Amino acid sequence: MGYPKDFLWGASTASYQIEGAWNEDGKGLSVWDIFCEKQGAVKNGENGHIACDHYHRYKDDVALMKKFGLKAYRFSVSWSRIMPNGTGEINKKGIQFYNNLIDELIKNDIEPIMTMYHWDLPAELHYKGGWLNLEIADYFMEYAKVIAENFTDRVKKIITINEPLCIIALGYAEGVHAPGLKLSPREYLKCAHNLLLAHGKAAKTLKKYGAKDVLVGIAPNMDNFYPFNEQNIVDINAARTKMFEIDGEKPYMWMHQVNWWLDPVVKGYYPIEGKVEYDNILPADYEKDIKDIGGTVDFICFNLYFGIPVTTDNNGAAVIAELNAAKTQMGWNVTPDAIKWAAKFLYERYNMPIYVSENGMACHDTVSLDGKVHDQNRIDYLHRYLLKLGEAIDDGADIRGYFVWSLMDNFEWDNGYEPRFGIVYVDYETQKRIIKDSGYWYSKVIETDGETLRIEK
Ligand code: BG6
Repeated sequence: MGYPKDFLWGASTASYQIEGAWNEDGKGLSVWDIFCEKQGAVKNGENGHIACDHYHRYKDDVALMKKFGLKAYRFSVSWSRIMPNGTGEINKKGIQFYNNLIDELIKNDIEPIMTMYHWDLPAELHYKGGWLNLEIADYFMEYAKVIAENFTDRVKKIITINEPLCIIALGYAEGVHAPGLKLSPREYLKCAHNLLLAHGKAAKTLKKYGAKDVLVGIAPNMDNFYPFNEQNIVDINAARTKMFEIDGEKPYMWMHQVNWWLDPVVKGYYPIEGKVEYDNILPADYEKDIKDIGGTVDFICFNLYFGIPVTTDNNGAAVIAELNAAKTQMGWNVTPDAIKWAAKFLYERYNMPIYVSENGMACHDTVSLDGKVHDQNRIDYLHRYLLKLGEAIDDGADIRGYFVWSLMDNFEWDNGYEPRFGIVYVDYETQKRIIKDSGYWYSKVIETDGETLRIEK
């Protein structure tokens, strides 16, 4: 078995991380433009003003994708590029940019997959209260109408929101990402609720005003629990329990659980334990709100970089196993089993088509004397994860596609330009792109529908 012929092999990026052109052609500012101005917010005081200059170089970048033989490209739209204030005025030049990009992709037989929201909230909406403001869901709906009317004739898969966990935890609870707030648990829970409502309203709007065949998804990340010993059914059961457990003892943990985000959009309710724990601080009428957004996804995505191994103690209770794993430049454990079990657990619970919308690693990449970038560690990482994902497919999980994070090195949020996640190296001084060894390797994987994964083993 392994990877099917129509598997969607892709790569992902996000608008603020690559586009640059932060104040060109009528674009409004986003919370990231503002956040980067704050002293100490981003490593080395860096920002996305130029980033990979993709706004001006998109044609060359699509040509690179073509060289890899990518089947699909997942990119995000900068909301304030097409609606400078987030609501009202539409910026034709912004629309034009995405139209050009989409057309260029299609011309090269690459399916465009669009994310509506990858963290760059229009600054003007932030000044109106941002995700705390209940009206944000209506603004997002208005934005969805613009997306539906302008792009769904060619873009057939739209992901509403990228990583609600990171939006809330990093942006609104810990304040290390834009907009840099440290709200109370009641407040950030309200933001999370508003995010879900926004998703729901946008999904319905995309269907109402978009092309008939448009499909809608959402891309959460989460704590990925997997069995320490996958041959042991006790470990498997313990990992599954952990994966979907809402632990009220730890007030912050609900947002790390994937079912907090997916139960509402698939089934129309919050996880039962969550309702019990948080009933008193959830916004009024939350049950009705959430019921209304059930059934608003056609597919689900997940972003995964590493996982947490689970075993049981002498009393049979689930415990985190000790791990001595290789680490990426981010300090994240290399845990290929995590991708297999996330795929399996999600498929078991939701029984929907699944896409891995991000996976990859940051390495200390440098250009060698021969002018190439030899990122053997990344090849090894991708190889191990893809083999494991293949096992999930063999076990019956309906996995339709996989997107490497990232197509190219880019602005890694508060870490600035230091971590390099790309399969293409970017020299930020000259904007020269160099395909890394992993890029050539991935290209072979695509060309052979995953066959080289086996042979090279
Ligand atoms: C995901 C995001 O969290 O991981 C990406 O969706 C991000 O936008 C990637 O770049 C890498 O993580 P980090 O911590 O470097 O931002």
